[in-house]
Amino acid sequence: MVAALRSGWVAPVGPDLEAFEREVAHRVGTQGAVAVTSGTAALHLALLGLGAGPGDVVLVPTLTFVATANAVRYTGARPVFVDCDPLTGNLDVGLLTEALGQLSARGERIAAVIPVDMFGSCVDYTTLLPFCAEAGVPVVEDAAEALGAYHNGRPAGSFGHVGAFSFNGNKIMTTSGGGMLVSDDLTLLAHARHLATQAREPTLHYEHHEIGYNYRLSNLLAALGRAQLMRLDGMITRRRALRDRYAKLFAPVPGVELIGGEDTGSNCWLTCLRVEAARSGWEATDLAAHLAARDIETRPVWKPMHRQPVYAEAESVLTGAADTLFAQGLTLPSGSGLTERQIEFVLAAIDEFLSARVEAAVA
Ligand SMILES: Cc1ncc(COP(=O)(O)O)c(C=O)c1O
Repeated sequence: MVAALRSGWVAPVGPDLEAFEREVAHRVGTQGAVAVTSGTAALHLALLGLGAGPGDVVLVPTLTFVATANAVRYTGARPVFVDCDPLTGNLDVGLLTEALGQLSARGERIAAVIPVDMFGSCVDYTTLLPFCAEAGVPVVEDAAEALGAYHNGRPAGSFGHVGAFSFNGNKIMTTSGGGMLVSDDLTLLAHARHLATQAREPTLHYEHHEIGYNYRLSNLLAALGRAQLMRLDGMITRRRALRDRYAKLFAPVPGVELIGGEDTGSNCWLTCLRVEAARSGWEATDLAAHLAARDIETRPVWKPMHRQPVYAEAESVLTGAADTLFAQGLTLPSGSGLTERQIEFVLAAIDEFLSARVEAAVA
């Protein structure tokens, strides 16, 4: 990064930007990539590239971060929310196919499906992709949280027509803020790159034929991204080791499971619990309060989009699974920057909570 600063390539484009794109595309196994200012911008450009616009619908999981749905609205299209698998929290593929059928029968133009690789675990693409291909609906993979994850040996980000990553500060690797589109569709990527740089035509004067955006990642941040990418595997290993320690701690506790805990291809970005109070005798919020009292931050999983006031009018296809996960889920400290001392502090606090519950049950 210091080298990039000294070279004078600070402003939008520069050699690190192109190198960062090449390196991420290589890692993911796509023909190309376009680095942008955020994962949200990547999703927006992906949808524009597929022609999404007013009058269209886009299928979005209800259990996601709001950016997935917002990117749809930026294009003028409407999100239709689909419920999740009760165990993994990822899109319920069976339900998605039902929703696709219903919407097509009604004559809706479905511009895209956006599966989200929740908390770093890929959607079941083996089942999903053939259905979408048969329905003729392109897939935009929201892999914002999933860089470095795999499904059946294939990298996250490579499953859709376009994939989108986030390099936000809280992600598995960061450029402080940033994102990337990846695809084999080089025409779509070239257009996305054009739109991301204010749709400026290659003339000496400033010439514009389309409405563009100021979405290009800066060369300086791309240099930071390259340095982070070199450390990606190490950071995944640390997160996985922490997940394994949580798994061991909770293994004997009835009614408590790690969401997507079985997925060996996950990048373990965020480790989340599901607590069935009827079996465990305590709620996820009880553990959260115990940890908060020791200054340890946890959070509920995403509040589903169909529960968000801003999307109160949106259409949804639901089973209740996302509502249950919202009620029962808890995200645990998962950062690869946690020190051994901090990890031991968190594990000891959880252990203390669990032991007190066992003692109370025995008494
Ligand atoms: C699933 C998901 N989609 C999209 C985004 C948006 O990424 P960004 O914050 O880089 O805009 C995020 C994270 O912030 C996310 O978790």
